[in-house]
Amino acid sequence: MARIEVNGTTLFYREQGSGPPALFIHGFPLDGTMWLDQFDALAGSRRCVVPDLRGFGKSEATAMDLLSMEQHADDLAALLGALGESTADVIGLSMGGYVALALWERHPNVFRSLALIDTKSGADDEAGKARREMAAIEVVTAGRKEFADGLADALLAAHATPFVKGRLRSMIEGTKYETTVAALKGMAARPDRTGLLGGITVPTTVIVGEEDKLTPVADAEAMATAIPGASLHVIPGAGHMSPIERPAAVTQALLDLLDGSVA
Ligand code: MLT
Repeated sequence: MARIEVNGTTLFYREQGSGPPALFIHGFPLDGTMWLDQFDALAGSRRCVVPDLRGFGKSEATAMDLLSMEQHADDLAALLGALGESTADVIGLSMGGYVALALWERHPNVFRSLALIDTKSGADDEAGKARREMAAIEVVTAGRKEFADGLADALLAAHATPFVKGRLRSMIEGTKYETTVAALKGMAARPDRTGLLGGITVPTTVIVGEEDKLTPVADAEAMATAIPGASLHVIPGAGHMSPIERPAAVTQALLDLLDGSVA
């Protein structure tokens, strides 16, 4: 575990293993611990780098009132550069997928491969933006516990275990209030990046929990169809948090991709 200064902020990151780097980008309002299973499993063949994004987890608090996907993407490109790496296998869940697509738009040369997990390429519609404004008010007025109650139902499959629920709650309740608010604003502001998909030239897989209610299987199918040569993995028994709900199945899908992309 280490910290590094990039773009005027200090990011915390976990690092393990050797080989070509794999960069794991967490979702909202989470942190790098969501990748612990995959971090261990891939360390045999990859230098796994798992940051907490700007303002999240153990990274430095931020006074930015909007955390854009572009800012995170630039931070991650700078992090890789600071670690002496010019390319990586990029793996993003949900908001991490939005960041991965922003990274593709701004720094395409960074990519060896891409895994988009429980995410989508489109922007929020007006109703979605309004829901984010309400969520920002809710979290600061009702508190993180109540916020986590609502999110846990939306994010997890029907039969999620208490352990999985515990991991999710720890991340949601551990995220700074101001980060949650700024990230909601940043996600609401993100553009539709569907137009980029046809130009993705690296090996790509799209992974989705069969019971994902937020970014359902249909979104994943649409992305996998639009990205040339992309594979699709639908994970039984998982909701929107497939890497912690069905870690072995997600790890296997990633290994299938990475084995195919070793230079
Ligand atoms: C996430 O899991 O990162 C969020 O649910 C994404 C979103 O709210 O759009």
